[in-house]
Order: sequence, then structure tokens, then C-alpha cells
Amino acid sequence: MTKYQAVRGTHDILPADAAAFQSLEARSRQLFKQFGFHEIRTPTFESLELFTRSLGETTDIVEKEMYAFEDRGGRKLALRPEGTAGVVRAFIEHHLAQTSPFCKLFYIGSMFRAERPQAGRYREFWQIGAEYFGNAAPEADAEMLVMVQTLFRALGLADVQLKVNSLGDEKCRPVYRKALKDYLEAKKSGLCEDCQRRIAKNPLRVLDCKIDGPKLTDIPTVDHYWCEECRAHFTAVTSLFEKATGHAFVFTPRLVRGLDYYTRTVFEVTTHVLGAQDALAAGGRYDKLVKELGGPDTPALGFALGSERTIQAMQAAEKTKKVESRQSLLVFVAAQGDAPAAAAFQLLQELRVDPALQERSIFFEGGFFQKKLGAQLSLADRLNAGYCVIMGQDELEKDEITLRSLKDSTQERLPRAALRAHLLKLSPRA
Ligand code: HAM
Repeated sequence: MTKYQAVRGTHDILPADAAAFQSLEARSRQLFKQFGFHEIRTPTFESLELFTRSLGETTDIVEKEMYAFEDRGGRKLALRPEGTAGVVRAFIEHHLAQTSPFCKLFYIGSMFRAERPQAGRYREFWQIGAEYFGNAAPEADAEMLVMVQTLFRALGLADVQLKVNSLGDEKCRPVYRKALKDYLEAKKSGLCEDCQRRIAKNPLRVLDCKIDGPKLTDIPTVDHYWCEECRAHFTAVTSLFEKATGHAFVFTPRLVRGLDYYTRTVFEVTTHVLGAQDALAAGGRYDKLVKELGGPDTPALGFALGSERTIQAMQAAEKTKKVESRQSLLVFVAAQGDAPAAAAFQLLQELRVDPALQERSIFFEGGFFQKKLGAQLSLADRLNAGYCVIMGQDELEKDEITLRSLKDSTQERLPRAALRAHLLKLSPRA
């Protein structure tokens, strides 16, 4: 065992896994662009108060899971447990509300929560998220849901469940909270210790308690308490989503969220393939948060997916591998002799930067010209290259190359100038 190991709950992303992260991030970026979102990068740590104010004093994250610390100047800071609070802070600080009537931002970054580590649950994990400011209409909720669904489909995870609920607003939620409290008080002695505490501070969380939640079959749900406006909003979101996608989402009246900033629409994307940590993504509307943090009264909503869990689900569905091997081709450049090696080196660099070859996801490796040709070919094989370009003395003199298929070991001679066009016609190694 080595002396130093990654801290409990953290993990290294080795090159083999980094490819999956890159492909997830690239697809997300592409989709965000189509939906008009622009990237924002905010700091990994912020003032502690930003998170306690945003997420809620009594949430599990704030009570138990924050990496909070004092810096040398005695400032109270915390590693970000999620991305929304920092993005809202930046939105207010840079007066983004004044530059455009609405603002759509996305981010990719790691988050920190001191949770008990287990499969799919880390203390540092990656999120890809998006936040949409300045649109209170149900069209914005529906657009966010359509975007999330489109993303998971593009990732090959069409069978995920999209669960949606509305938590009501400042008018109807207190009425619901009161009804829930009364109901829970009557059952208090039969509840777990955590839920007994939650009754006073955060009764909604009892709904997703793993112990008590399933037992309380007659617990009141929020849909019976929605005010007219919240009901109309939710009905509109439902119908816009159905019209746009041809599908219904799963209305889940017991869905509450672990963060206090939500108003109205909340949602979660879950999968059956990952066991206990089944939430791949989550989000919702938070119309009061911008004002609460000192900004202009601005409706907003957003979502974030957990990258590790999403990748695990993709791998479980064996999509990543197939997509990768279908799309990319590695070509190895080998040479024999000093003068051919110099020419091969030049050729390798030219091929690597060729835009048309890049566009077709054809990659090049080489530069091991001091090894025997056989050793270079077996290295190409180990790298799973589809083809090998060989430059020997004879090829150099005739301005040609040999192109060898590593799949069936056939080879042919080509004029050097014809190589590029030939490569563009090749299909990847199966
Ligand atoms: P969240 O539900 O706390 O929401 O996290 C979103 C996703 O991050 C989860 O569905 C899960 O996939 C992943 N995740 C959370 N905790 C962990 C962990 N310990 N290990 C691995 N993955 C984890 C938010 O963070 C909100 N900021 C989402 C949002 C954006 N709402 C509005 N805008």
C-alpha cells in the first residue's frame, strides 16, 4: 500500500475515466448551446453565509455536510456543496439582470459534501448544471424539463424516470406545512429520531425519510393545498411538456427536495440501474432566492446532474463504450531508419492537426521510431489502433507510405499525398 491515498470520499479520475467525463461534458455543452445557455465558472469556495442563507439553516447539507473553515484572516468560508448559490451570487454581483431581460448560465465543476461515502456518493463529486434567470412563465419550467430529458436521451439513458412535483409558493406552502405539522405531531411517538426533530424545523423532509416515509401512507401531500395560481402553473407545465415531447413526466406529489430555496416546480431524474443512489439529476424553480440574497426580484430555475452517477448509469447501459468505439479511430505512425523516422515524425504532426481528420475523430499516435518495426506494430495493437502508417527507406525514396490494417493484417502502398483522402474514407476498427 502506498503511504498516501486519496482522502476518504474523494477519487481520482484516471485517463480511462476522464474520456467518459469529457464525452459527457461535450454532449452537455453542445445541448446547452442549442438551448441558449452560456458558461460561467465561479469559485470553489464562497462565504459560509452564502450557503446557509441559500440552502436553508435546517437542511442536512448545512447542518451536517458542509466543509466549512476559517481562513487566516478569520473569514468564515465553505467549499461549495452545490453550484446554484455561487451562480446566483455572481448573477447579482455582476448585475447580469441589467445586461439582458433574461440570463441562461451553465457550469461544470466539483462540489463538496461531507456525506457518508458509499457507492455513487462521494465527498467531492462533479456536477453539470444550468440556471435560467428572469422567466416566471411555465414555458421556462417546461423548457428546462425538455432540456433535461433531451440530455439524458442523448446520453443513451432514455429509460430514466423524470419525476416532477410543485412545492407551492409563499401563499400555499405555509398552509400545507401547518397541515403536515399537525399530522406529524399526532404520530410523533412512532417516528424516527431524525423525523421527530424535523417536525418543528423541516416537516417536508419527513416525506423522503427512508424509515418513516414509506410507513406514512396517509401523509398529506402538497397537491391538495396548491393555490389557484400554483395549480394553473403546474397544469400549464404538464401540458407544455407533453405537447413538446409526446411524453408525460411522472407526477410525484411526495417529491420534496433537500434544499430550502425551491418554490413551485421541483424535479428529479432517477434510474433503476444504480441501487440506493438512484438520483442522477435534480432541480427546480427558486423564485425568491435572488431577492433573498440581495438582488433584484428575479424568478429563476435550474438543475444539476451528478457526473459520476450519470457515467455509471451510462456504463451500466453499455452505451459509452459502444459510442466511443463507433466514433473514433486511432492510426499509429511507425518508421524504420533515421531518415524515414524524421519524415514519419513530420507526417505524424501534420496528420494530428488536420481539421478534417479531427472532425472525423481520427487520432494519431507514434514517435517510437527507435524500436524495431515489429515492436512498434505490437504497441499499435495494444493501443487498439485500427491502422498503422509505415515509413521505410523505400517508401521515403518513392514518396509513398505503407498503410497496414491491424484488423486483418493486409497492407497497401499509397502515394504519400493520397494518405489523407484515404484515411477520411476509412471506417473505425470494429
Ligand atoms: P442536488 O439534488 O443536491 O441538487 O444535487 C444534484 C445531483 O448531484 C444529484 O441528483 C446527484 O446526482 C448529484 N450528487 C449530489 N450529492 C452527491 C454526492 N455526495 N456524490 C455524488 N453525486 C452527488 C443541487 O445540487 C441543486 N443545486 C440543483 C439545482 C440547480 N437546483 C436548481 N438549480
